[in-house]
Amino acid sequence: MRKVLQRTVAAMALGSIASIAMAQDDGADLVINGEIEITVRAPAPAHMSDTGIDTILSGWVFRSDETRQLEMDDFDNPAFLAVDRGIEAWNTVEGTEGKSCATCHGDVEESMAGVRAVYPRWNEEAGEVRTLAGQINDCRTNQMGADAYAYDKSDMTAMEALISVQSRGMPVNVAIEGPVAETWAQGQELYYTRFGQLELSCANCHEQNYGNYIRADHLSQGQINGFPTYRLKNAGLVQTHNRFRGCIRDTRAETFAVGSPEFVALELYVASRGNGLSVEGPSVRP
Ligand code: HEC
Ligand code: HEC
Repeated sequence: MRKVLQRTVAAMALGSIASIAMAQDDGADLVINGEIEITVRAPAPAHMSDTGIDTILSGWVFRSDETRQLEMDDFDNPAFLAVDRGIEAWNTVEGTEGKSCATCHGDVEESMAGVRAVYPRWNEEAGEVRTLAGQINDCRTNQMGADAYAYDKSDMTAMEALISVQSRGMPVNVAIEGPVAETWAQGQELYYTRFGQLELSCANCHEQNYGNYIRADHLSQGQINGFPTYRLKNAGLVQTHNRFRGCIRDTRAETFAVGSPEFVALELYVASRGNGLSVEGPSVRP
């Protein structure tokens, strides 16, 4: 009985996705500051051959002209205030060791170029998959003797934004084989798990219904190449795990904690669905 009821609720929720309103990709290109060419559509990576998706698309493709525009010039992109704060933090000495990020890494533009494109990645010494946020906090606690940043708060998203900028335009290229394989498979399983009263998985919305409207929202493929992302609705940067939490909460389910092993695995898997798109963060979304 309960099952039947849940199915009905899910059918109603999906029923509100208007398939007649399927909007076509208009083929617009994203070039930032008139010079950084961003790949917003690319052939789906081989591991997605069973998904029915041939072309992976950045969330930018699904946004309105106004929102798109905000990302085309760093002077218009409100996330760049956070990038400036990130630069300041990069050069600030903190913690018991008397060091700043710059003490060890030097110039952020040189040392962090390409880094965002390969995260989450395996850390050999720790024997674990690390997200970029996890690595930043590892440096703060173990290298600087400073407090960890709150995983999804503004100090962290500012640093993530600064580091992402150094890889803009480079192809996302996270490894999915070797020591990360098990974590990746766990993330894949989560992606297809139906959550909450609505019994909806990530795939139900972002694989089977992208391009359609759910209420007022134009559903994208749920890519994370643009993270951290400036959400106009929040007037601030949103961290990847925060977005995952919001999406799961919308299915009326309890959700995992930011920084949890489940979300690290999910992030690795979702990142790998974007292999071939450009790093675009910090992006702008409604
Ligand atoms: C005392 C030196 C030291 C300081 C200070 C330091 N780091 Fe690191 N960082 C390292 C070392 C060593 C590594 C690579 C080894 C590892 O952890 O696996 C690293 C790796 C990284 C990486 C991953 C790079 C890659 O290619 O995968 C990032 C990102 C990073 N640090 C960010 C930061 C940030 C942000 C700060 C300041 C909040 C910082 N680090 C402060 C020593 C430092
Ligand atoms: C009920 C439908 C629904 C489900 C289920 C759902 N999402 Fe979403 N998601 C949305 C909507 C609506 C948006 C905002 C519009 C968009 O970008 O698709 C969104 C946005 C996102 C974004 C931001 C994309 C961007 O370009 O900024 C990511 C990432 C994302 N979802 C990941 C996930 C993941 C991972 C799951 C599974 C844990 C999930 N979503 C489950 C509806 C859903």
